Amino acid sequence: RLGKSLVVAIDGPSGSGKSSVSREVARRLRAAYLDTGAMYRAVTLHCVAQGIDLEDAAAVEAAARGIELFISTSPDRESVTVGGDDVTAAIREPEVSAAVSAVATTMGARAELIRRQRALIAGAGHRIVAEGRDITTVVAPDAEVRILLTATEEARLRRRGDQLGGTQTDAQLKRQVTDRDARDSTVVDFHQAADGVVTLDSSDLDFEQTVAAVLGIVRTVAH
Ligand code: DC
Repeated sequence: RLGKSLVVAIDGPSGSGKSSVSREVARRLRAAYLDTGAMYRAVTLHCVAQGIDLEDAAAVEAAARGIELFISTSPDRESVTVGGDDVTAAIREPEVSAAVSAVATTMGARAELIRRQRALIAGAGHRIVAEGRDITTVVAPDAEVRILLTATEEARLRRRGDQLGGTQTDAQLKRQVTDRDARDSTVVDFHQAADGVVTLDSSDLDFEQTVAAVLGIVRTVAH
């Protein structure tokens, strides 16, 4: 039997299916859900909107500290607001995806977002599934369940392509998935599982099978 209080930490590269799988796992566990990537995206959008130079680390850090950011932790309600404005859709725009690594590689901004993520996880008060790049290692290294969700580059490119409706060329997809991961992995390692982290390779699994596999790990590891 699973306890009432449970933290499930899931990391992985883009296109691993992390977000959709984590959200569904949260639903099945009647848990809260935290998409930490959405927070990096929200800070990025805010910087762009405010005309803040993304190369200016001090300014980006100040923006991360000062931002009035709200993120829903309900798996059934995707909602992100900045200063009261709904940015849920805007943070998924390709311009944000292209610029977000600049925020993710600014250590001062990371420190602030990590602090907020820990507070959100602690504040959830019951079960939560938190997903990102450094949840198993930095944000919640003491989580009861820690999973690295991986997939071959081929599978990740194919999934992201399908997600975007098959409108992207192979070169565009490679820029969006592989190049962004390469930039992001200069500050966090989400390709290699840390000690105690269970690796789940989803390359040959469909969505439902991946969800079932994660739930299986949760039931095995947390008791
Ligand atoms: O998962 P995503 O594509 O929405 O994440 C957006 C960006 O945020 C991604 O380029 C890496 C960064 N990120 C991070 O550095 N650490 C996290 N815990 C989550 C996301």
